[in-house]
Amino acid sequence: MVLVRSFPWIASAIVTLLLIGYVVAVHVLRVSEVRAPSPPTVRVVDRVVYLPMPKRVTNVSIEEALLWRRSIREYVDKPLTVVQLSMLLWAAYGVNDARWGFRTTPSAGATYPLEIYVVVGERGVAVNETQYLEAGVYKYDPYTHSIMLVKLGDVRKELQEAALGQEWVGRAPVNIVIAAVFERTTARYGERGRVRYVPMEAGHAGQNIYLMATALGLGTVVIGAFYDDQVSNVVSLQPNEVPLYIVPVGVPIAPYRTSFDDVARFIESRRG
Ligand SMILES: Cc1cc2nc3c(=O)[nH]c(=O)nc-3n(C[C@H](O)[C@H](O)[C@H](O)COP(=O)(O)O)c2cc1C
Repeated sequence: MVLVRSFPWIASAIVTLLLIGYVVAVHVLRVSEVRAPSPPTVRVVDRVVYLPMPKRVTNVSIEEALLWRRSIREYVDKPLTVVQLSMLLWAAYGVNDARWGFRTTPSAGATYPLEIYVVVGERGVAVNETQYLEAGVYKYDPYTHSIMLVKLGDVRKELQEAALGQEWVGRAPVNIVIAAVFERTTARYGERGRVRYVPMEAGHAGQNIYLMATALGLGTVVIGAFYDDQVSNVVSLQPNEVPLYIVPVGVPIAPYRTSFDDVARFIESRRG
């Protein structure tokens, strides 16, 4: 205080410095708030793309995802992001158990018969603002959460033809193909594994994709109508892999929305 009384300019210097500090701090905070999020981590080694780690990326509740799930077949001409692809594949068949490597999808006897492929169109998946995954067919490895290029080139038109010409297959930036190695499950459960357990498991994986896509604001539809041999050929499936679902995913022209009030009104009207 004595110092301040003796040298009043010191007080005004301190106040000025504090003010400058405050202005700088506010500015830096503002800038960091609006700065774009850092680009996702994608390591590419030879033909393997290590996807960004699965993590919480949406604020959509499970109730909302169920409420807004709809088959959507019309997409705008826009890529998916690699984070969205990462989350869709994790939802389909990713690991959610650090002890045994169990998955997001239940599996009879944990035999895990499914194999997940991704057909990426030209500029179908953006890695950052300027780079895209190479168009081609990739195979998902849940343990390393990576996709491996198995076939280079945009094969969406061929996949569309294999799916009886369904246009949403050709237009979606990404098609996830769910295939199954039936022997993994039938070796333990016989015929019941073939006619029940494996198809049931594909259904679980398909629903997981629907819900994750909905939460991400994306549109999807599961497709069961296709020529098996043609799909196997286009996707370059292994001889023991059978295609079960084609799942196009894209940014919807119009996302489906309804409310619990509307649903309640419908249910009430049916109660009479
Ligand atoms: C096993 C199965 C196969 C399907 N195959 C096709 C298909 O080949 N093409 C298509 O556009 N939709 C297909 N769908 C989607 C259904 O048409 C759709 O789920 C149904 O019309 C109900 O609409 P929602 O999913 O919006 O509730 C399939 C659905 C299931 C469960």
